Amino acid sequence: MALERTFAIIKPDAIQTKHTGEILASIEQNGFRIVGMKLIRIARQEAEKFYEVHQQRPFFAGLVTFMTEGPALVMVLEREDAIAKWRELMGATNPANAAEGTIRKRFAENIERNAVHGSDGADTAAVEIPFFFSTAELL
Ligand code: RTP
Ligand code: MG
Repeated sequence: MALERTFAIIKPDAIQTKHTGEILASIEQNGFRIVGMKLIRIARQEAEKFYEVHQQRPFFAGLVTFMTEGPALVMVLEREDAIAKWRELMGATNPANAAEGTIRKRFAENIERNAVHGSDGADTAAVEIPFFFSTAELL
């Protein structure tokens, strides 16, 4: 299978609880190559646009507040089958349902403050990568 790229975020909760290093180690140990990475404070407008698919959901306002509350590490990750493999390593949205050893099982506080984001398909990765990165920032 060919190399594939996905978009990932270490969310503000995991940065605040100082789990950035362990999450990056897990990413590298699981065969991903970091192609792009930057620490940013996501703007409210950006978060609203990024998660616009959830606009009508009851958790939308809380999600936007959470994603903008502090620094987030945005990344582009590459490996074979990267989109599915990163979702697998992340674990279920609700850490209570996440498999042992997954990042959300290890580090997520609850269904909202759940440590990491990952593109959920090739179509979303194709939108999310250029949302945060220019071509020159992908090495
Ligand atoms: P993500 O998009 O961040 O990778 O997460 P996901 O695909 O596993 O979950 P999704 O359904 O896309 O939800 C996006 C994010 O919204 C927050 N959320 N809160 N309070 C709630 O019931 C609830 N449900 C979702 C989480 O931060 C989730 O990751
Ligand atoms: Mg999602």
